[in-house]
Amino acid sequence: MTPEFPAIRLRGATIGYGDVPIVRNVDLTIAAGEAVAVLGSNGSGKTTLSRGLLGLATMLDGDMQVLGAPVGRLRERGRVGYVPQRHSISGAVPATVREAVAVGRLARLGLFRPLGAADRRAVADAVAAVGLGDRLDDKVAALSGGQQRRVLVARALAAEPELLIMDEPTAGVDAASQEALAGTLATISASGTTLVVVTHESAPLAGVLTRAVVVDHGRVAYDGPLSEAGHHDEHLHHHPPEREPAGYRLDQPTVTPRSATTRER
Ligand SMILES: Nc1ncnc2c1ncn2[C@@H]1O[C@H](COP(=O)(O)OP(=O)(O)OP(=O)(O)O)[C@@H](O)[C@H]1O
Ligand SMILES: [Mg+2]
Repeated sequence: MTPEFPAIRLRGATIGYGDVPIVRNVDLTIAAGEAVAVLGSNGSGKTTLSRGLLGLATMLDGDMQVLGAPVGRLRERGRVGYVPQRHSISGAVPATVREAVAVGRLARLGLFRPLGAADRRAVADAVAAVGLGDRLDDKVAALSGGQQRRVLVARALAAEPELLIMDEPTAGVDAASQEALAGTLATISASGTTLVVVTHESAPLAGVLTRAVVVDHGRVAYDGPLSEAGHHDEHLHHHPPEREPAGYRLDQPTVTPRSATTRER
């Protein structure tokens, strides 16, 4: 059964923060079931684009539809899964891996419905898929950074979304776990899930992702087969994003009013 609408449809989309445009005038259609890599150098706008799709950045112009609904209007939020680039799930709440991943399942169920047997199985399967099956009852805070990223991936998988948007799911994750993730993504892609994966290391996922969108200075500079994207993205292998502590990033200019940056003598 193919839905009559594309998974993602952007027309002249301009996305930014406040009134500052970052991603400009993007036309992009991703059909249901496609598996797309979003590539580009640090600061090019990949995260802004994916956050825009989730309604987490400001749409300044144009038209954006996700699963046939204007961004932010989708009724069943669980239909879209998201793995953010920067997020601390350990936080203040001492959750176990099982609990943190079950939160993803709740997004699908809606609040206040208890998890049934099928839900508990989906949680366990998702945790096993990222190779943490033996850590189900460990505290998330006690895991390494790479393991915590894998918990975030499991949380998104557990919801069994129609559209899965992942921002650097393999950053800081070891080769064996990247391969395991590639296998899992291949399985859910084969079952029809649409994948949009922001990544600096497309090689581990090259067997799964077929199309690439290269973002350069906020514009789509290339859209075509992943296998031919290399020429269009010379920065690709240079700067994997650093894992930074919570707080603002140092590798990008902060948007400030001109007056604040002009020093007068
Ligand atoms: N919350 C924010 N407020 C204002 N500007 C922001 C914000 N987040 C990002 N930006 C700016 O938007 C631009 C694009 O950032 P973005 O995070 O989308 O890049 P990216 O392609 O994901 O980079 P990376 O590869 O480092 O993750 C940068 O110039 C950045 O300074
Ligand atoms: Mg980013």
